[in-house]
Amino acid sequence: MGTDKSLNNIKKAKASQNQSLSFLQMEMIDNTNHKYDVIFNLFTSFGYVNHDYNLKTIKNIERQLKDDGTVIVDFMNTLFVKNNLVIEETKVIDNLSFKIERRSDGKYIYKEIKFNDKKDYFFQEKVMDLSLNDFKKYLTRYNLKVIKTFGDYNLNEFDIENSERLIMVIKKSQS
Ligand SMILES: C[S@@+](CC[C@H](N)C(=O)[O-])C[C@H]1O[C@@H](n2cnc3c(N)ncnc32)[C@H](O)[C@@H]1O
Repeated sequence: MGTDKSLNNIKKAKASQNQSLSFLQMEMIDNTNHKYDVIFNLFTSFGYVNHDYNLKTIKNIERQLKDDGTVIVDFMNTLFVKNNLVIEETKVIDNLSFKIERRSDGKYIYKEIKFNDKKDYFFQEKVMDLSLNDFKKYLTRYNLKVIKTFGDYNLNEFDIENSERLIMVIKKSQS
């Protein structure tokens, strides 16, 4: 089962649907009424709202996880992102010029995209600035524990200064 709140993303994903793979448009705090061996939260799909929503998401993950199940959360390494922030850039795609600006205010990391295609468009993406410790604090509330971290998709060790990603392998704690 794959889920996302974006109907467009789900419509696209449904092209790959088959007997053992289905997709559903839903908020990540909503319950699918199943228990899973593994739950993935991939490609920075966390931290778009606030702390309360994050806690509800983790509670929801915990209740849908089998006792010996595993959670994989793939988030950005916000320290690396902030230290390497491209403040401003322009990309030209299909003759359209996209102005991209990035900034951080300590709570969120922002990406803003402006372009003109007969009229002006403006999009803002805002993701919470969450560290490994922030995730660990959330998880202790729900009997979940980070047992391993990786820093990129080649599964190199997580290094807070140099890793692009913060990939966490999470299990229910035995205590
Ligand atoms: C950076 S994109 C990652 C792309 C997507 N997960 C993928 O695997 O291709 C973040 C995704 O998180 C989804 N998302 C953001 N907030 C969400 C929420 N509250 N509930 C469910 N999905 C959410 C967005 O719709 C978007 O598709």
